[in-house]
Amino acid sequence: MQSTPAAWADADVYLADTLVGHDPALEAALGAQQAAGLPHIEVAPVAGKLLNLIARMSGARRVLEIGTLGGYSTIWLARAVGEGGSVITVEAESRNAAIARASIDAAGVGERVDIRVGRAADVLPTLVGGFDLVFIDADKESNTIYLDWAARLGHAGTVVVLDNIGREGEIVRDDSTDPMVVGTRDALRMLGDDPRFDATALQTVGIKGWDGVALALVV
Ligand code: DHB
Ligand code: MG
Repeated sequence: MQSTPAAWADADVYLADTLVGHDPALEAALGAQQAAGLPHIEVAPVAGKLLNLIARMSGARRVLEIGTLGGYSTIWLARAVGEGGSVITVEAESRNAAIARASIDAAGVGERVDIRVGRAADVLPTLVGGFDLVFIDADKESNTIYLDWAARLGHAGTVVVLDNIGREGEIVRDDSTDPMVVGTRDALRMLGDDPRFDATALQTVGIKGWDGVALALVV
């Protein structure tokens, strides 16, 4: 096989078909998101399930998500925390939040999910800490602010997942002026240097092209 974006996508679809399967609530959430014209940049199905498994493996009961979009990853996380658990998800766009609210409710996990509308840099200082898992998937320019709040609102043992750390390999460009690349590089440097975190990152290929995810533990 040639390592091409089309082959990565085919293999990703195969893995999702084999390991994730048909999921009406999640597919409905994606349909609603698409019908509303939101960008198709939610996590891939295999990545959504990875989030769900990481949350369950770590026993997370209180989850913070930064960047709700249409609620696709929120549903994966809300399922993971179980009936007594909770997810606070922060979304800057009220229209996105309304679409997410409907999809999350339709998925049957609405009572576990609190959507806070506003810019995360404004909302995060208003939250009470104690989160067991923080998923950061919002504007990449603000990633270091979000990591700082993840540490402040977490505790020793909190799991932090940061999306989109590969950026088609642009992360190696120390002269990049792309704010998303600069924000991602700054976040990776912080994860490497800040003593509050112990971190690694994995590149991914699949239906979203060449990207990746960082995983950190608050120590
Ligand atoms: C973008 C943002 C994302 O969170 C993502 O997963 C893919 C792309 C973007 O803004 O380009
Ligand atoms: Mg993302």
